[in-house]
Amino acid sequence: METEKNEKIENIISKTLDIPSHSKIVFKVINLLKNEYVSIDEIESFMSHDKGFTARFLRIANSPFYGLTRKVKTLKDSLLLIGLNTAKSLILATSSRYLFKNFGPFEQKLYEHSLAVGLCSSLLSNYTKTIKPEEALASGILHDIGKIFINNAISESYQKIYEKIHETEKSIIQLEEEILEINHCEVGAFIAERWNYPEEIKITIQDHHGQSYPHQKENSCINICNIVRIADKISWNLGIGFKRPQKMNINLQDIGIDNKNLEEIEDLFISQYEMQKKFLLE
Ligand SMILES: [Fe+2]
Ligand SMILES: [Fe+2]
Repeated sequence: METEKNEKIENIISKTLDIPSHSKIVFKVINLLKNEYVSIDEIESFMSHDKGFTARFLRIANSPFYGLTRKVKTLKDSLLLIGLNTAKSLILATSSRYLFKNFGPFEQKLYEHSLAVGLCSSLLSNYTKTIKPEEALASGILHDIGKIFINNAISESYQKIYEKIHETEKSIIQLEEEILEINHCEVGAFIAERWNYPEEIKITIQDHHGQSYPHQKENSCINICNIVRIADKISWNLGIGFKRPQKMNINLQDIGIDNKNLEEIEDLFISQYEMQKKFLLE
């Protein structure tokens, strides 16, 4: 049974073309995010290979969101002006778009959902003070990577699942298992394992739909996954990407926030997301 499942997952992954370049980009970006001492020069050399990437980044840096008083023309200037941490989040957000083989309306929804969960996770982490925002952001952006790969391989049958979600009470995981005999957490876990993602991202990808953490006992990883679970529910409830009411059946105290904090975070999230989306999705 397990081997049969693994074969199905291998099959899905092998159908996604140029996986090595996908994984290389994400792998490099994750390392970049994790490196506290990364220099502006290193970021510049990493990004300068890709002209489209640079153009997009300059557009973001010049957007009203960052309130710059003069126009930024070079990558180096934009990095200096908007700051390293913001730059790192924008790099991951823009680079995750390269994971998609095609980019139509459905893919845009998947992308919007992952950006939203990434941003909301980093806002939640600012309140908890125990998790680094860049780690929460990376885990949030990549939590549904399995969906991207399933969709890259068998988009027609995968998108049909989403047409059904409003006719049924069943979860996405249940529908995936019924129709495909695998779910996006299993596919994502396979990718995270094969390309050696950091532990907290692996756990989040594997366990973000479960109620327990069979794969990990370390508190920091569990905290990150709990943050992403909450951010996921907030995004579904607000209808960013996809809409479906979600029960907030997670103990907020586990990540050190209360209901009042949650309301504040939701308001902040809505305004920040709208501004970032405008420039990331153009
Ligand atoms: Fe998911
Ligand atoms: Fe999700």
